[in-house]
Amino acid sequence: MPAATKKIWMDGKLVDNADAKVHVLNHTFHYGVGVFEGIRCYPTPKGPAIFRLRDHVKRLIASARLYHMPLKYTEDDIVRAIEETQTANDIVPSYIRPILYRGEPALGVKNDKGSVSLAVAAIPAKKYLGEGSDAGVRAKISPFRKPHSDAIPSFAKADGNYLNSYLAGIDAARDGYEEAILLDSNGYVAEGSGENIFLVRNGTVYTPGLESDILLGITRMSVIQIAKDLGFTVIEKLLSVNELLTADEGFFTGTYAEIAPIREISHYVISGGKPGPVTRDIMDVFYRTIRGEEPKYAPWMHPVPPLARPVARPPRRQA
Ligand SMILES: Cc1ncc(COP(=O)(O)O)c(C=O)c1O
Repeated sequence: MPAATKKIWMDGKLVDNADAKVHVLNHTFHYGVGVFEGIRCYPTPKGPAIFRLRDHVKRLIASARLYHMPLKYTEDDIVRAIEETQTANDIVPSYIRPILYRGEPALGVKNDKGSVSLAVAAIPAKKYLGEGSDAGVRAKISPFRKPHSDAIPSFAKADGNYLNSYLAGIDAARDGYEEAILLDSNGYVAEGSGENIFLVRNGTVYTPGLESDILLGITRMSVIQIAKDLGFTVIEKLLSVNELLTADEGFFTGTYAEIAPIREISHYVISGGKPGPVTRDIMDVFYRTIRGEEPKYAPWMHPVPPLARPVARPPRRQA
């Protein structure tokens, strides 16, 4: 954890960063049965606000359900734990990582009984696909495909899913690309290793549907809404590699990556190598929203409640 992270929330206590430890024989460490979220807190004129916090917490709970992880926390408890972590660290903008895991020593795969713990950390946020990613990224069609949901349910944001993302992401990075594009098990376009993907063809916005074994991204959901509200038709369907490579525009969406236009795919230049007009329109609204400047989507910005903030705080550092 970066030094900026002072406190980590572990099962009800804010512990010092250096003391946030779990047993080496824990079940999650060995078998990947953990579920987590990636959430961002942004500075806004009304104070720090967390983007779509409740939607992230709902997805976390759904992920836990898919993996037989009974929770001792309600949705409200998890929301409060995240608010407390954000307040205790006072890092803005931050990337917040709640994780549900089985932390007790327990070897043997078939453990659906061990108690499920919650930890929440907040770290300084950065641009996942590089500081220049707003101007466009290069992506490689990965030789690694998404596992079918018959094998690993894609709706769950589970630790083990990221073995696949890791292999695809490293393969793309070693070939000099910023990101990988994974196909589903039938060869249709699925998503990036840590983002959903959109294409634009003839002014219509397309994105793979749920049948492509994607994570149901919260940024994806937001971008679909923004695009529709801007008057674009949005179609969720199976997308072929041909449609991808001949798209007018393409972009990734994700909490960590935000919106990253795609300027090249496996040596095919997309959109003249720069963000296209539809992508730019959507980005404008999205970035205004997360800066707290878009009244229409103000309900997406969850204020960190003043009462949850420490009473005596050191003076705020200037940005
Ligand atoms: C595999 C994968 N797909 C899509 C996304 C985008 O989801 P969200 O917009 O909820 O961050 C992520 C990021 O969490 C991801 O890891």
